[in-house]
Amino acid sequence: MGAVGWVSRRAAAVLPSLALLALSACSQGKSYPGRETYQSGLCPQCHGVDRAGTAMGPPLKQLRRSWHPDSLGAYLQKPDAFVERNPRLQGLATKYTMVMPRFNMDESTRHDLVRYLLETEQ
Ligand code: HEC
Repeated sequence: MGAVGWVSRRAAAVLPSLALLALSACSQGKSYPGRETYQSGLCPQCHGVDRAGTAMGPPLKQLRRSWHPDSLGAYLQKPDAFVERNPRLQGLATKYTMVMPRFNMDESTRHDLVRYLLETEQ
């Protein structure tokens, strides 16, 4: 009898912390679904899993300094059009042998991706 009582008290103590873990993992995924898009697409091959950049693409940090959600969304649809008229991007583009490709994605996926890029650093 005593032993059963002990076990259930332990279980009661452990359960809330597990629930808390599940909750925090869940809310993270919910706030930035764009992280999934970034990590599962081709982006990390050129920009790195941690967005620190690779030999094929620049780091994607502090993007808020240069981009607004609308402009970044437009850039992702047609990067080449922006590079033509943006000296900073032209400078960046000359450092890498490949260009930033165009990606086709639906609007909500792009919106989530932009949010992830602008609101997080990795
Ligand atoms: C083949 C390599 C390659 C891939 C794949 C790639 N990029 Fe790029 N990206 C570049 C290069 C090179 C630049 C530099 C500027 C240019 O060429 O437009 C760049 C620039 C950028 C910029 C602008 C950086 C700045 O400083 O303003 C963003 C944002 C960006 N990429 C996001 C992405 C995302 C998101 C993905 C995945 C959907 C991705 N890139 C996939 C090569 C790549």
